[in-house]
Amino acid sequence: MERRLPPVAPEIASLVPYKPGKPIEELERELGISGAIKLASNENPLGPSPKAVEAMAQALGGLHRYPDGAGYVLRAALAQRYGLPQEQIVLGNGSNEIIEFLCRAFIRPGDQALAAAPSFLMYSKLVQVAGGRLKEVPLKDFRLDLAALQEAIEPRTRLVFLNNPDNPAGTAFSGQELQAFLDQTPPGVLVVLDEAYIDFAGDPAVAQGPEFLGHATPLVVMRTFSKSYGLAGLRIGFALAPLEVAGLLHRVRQPFNTSILAQVAGAAALADEEFLQKSRELVWQGLQDFYACFERLGLSYVPSQANFVLVRIGPRAGEVAEELLRRGIIVRKMGSYQLPEHLRISVGLPQENQRFIRQLTAILEG
Ligand SMILES: Cc1ncc(COP(=O)(O)O)c(C=O)c1O
Repeated sequence: MERRLPPVAPEIASLVPYKPGKPIEELERELGISGAIKLASNENPLGPSPKAVEAMAQALGGLHRYPDGAGYVLRAALAQRYGLPQEQIVLGNGSNEIIEFLCRAFIRPGDQALAAAPSFLMYSKLVQVAGGRLKEVPLKDFRLDLAALQEAIEPRTRLVFLNNPDNPAGTAFSGQELQAFLDQTPPGVLVVLDEAYIDFAGDPAVAQGPEFLGHATPLVVMRTFSKSYGLAGLRIGFALAPLEVAGLLHRVRQPFNTSILAQVAGAAALADEEFLQKSRELVWQGLQDFYACFERLGLSYVPSQANFVLVRIGPRAGEVAEELLRRGIIVRKMGSYQLPEHLRISVGLPQENQRFIRQLTAILEG
């Protein structure tokens, strides 16, 4: 029997689902192994912030209640951190959900958004769901080409996604460059600065979005607890936005979009400076170890301001990734990012990084 469905919008029917990094458990089931490691999803290998875990443990007894729909505790903590009124802060079920709110609020069928190519895949998917089209501007030397992005703005451009530091390249632009970009942006365009990896940027010149919220060009800064605070599994991110934009994002969100646990954990994590610093130092050391390995192997790589690095393996990149998988190491293939000769490696624990380095060396030199 053929079931007849209501008509499906072509932009939904043609959507290619996002393919996340393979979960460790899935690989272990497939290969019948244990002790696999994942260096594929830019997670924090230290685990969650201990202060966040403690706060969640204390909140467990209150889970029969709905969360505070206004997210008071976390928004108050963020307001204090960034020196903004709470009304300018919007919480999301991960910063992914903020991207969805932005598309829902600002993209109508036929509208356009801009982003670099390659860039984080969720921009194009969520713009497409809203009936819009993502116009892509190639990276230049693995950096966002801000001048070309500026030139690509058209009358139907509503959103410009700037990912800084950039996923998957790991490069970052400076505060001066952001200032120039905002100065030139025509009215009617909202600039979205995705700072998912900003806490790992070691270079003090890298733009810090919150400093630019007062600019005449409307700017939304997105940040997340998934990376530097180790809370990817909890799903909590946030946007700092001009008052009128925040008001619109609040209108399109569900009343209880972030959970009780996510709210208390976020607030506790924000105060966990020690964990943040430990995470940053781990990443910086891990990157140095990766760079040394790549140099030894004669591989080119893109120096990173994030917690991952893009390395050029060559035409065998896919094969090398498969061989690493067989050896229990999950890394990210870059075919879906139009970089089939590259792999993206997230920094893990020191022993995980060393295991990757040993196995990569064995595969390439073996
Ligand atoms: C550039 C970028 N933005 C946003 C996200 C989404 O993060 P989350 O939804 O976990 O906050 C990611 C996750 O990998 C990312 O790489």
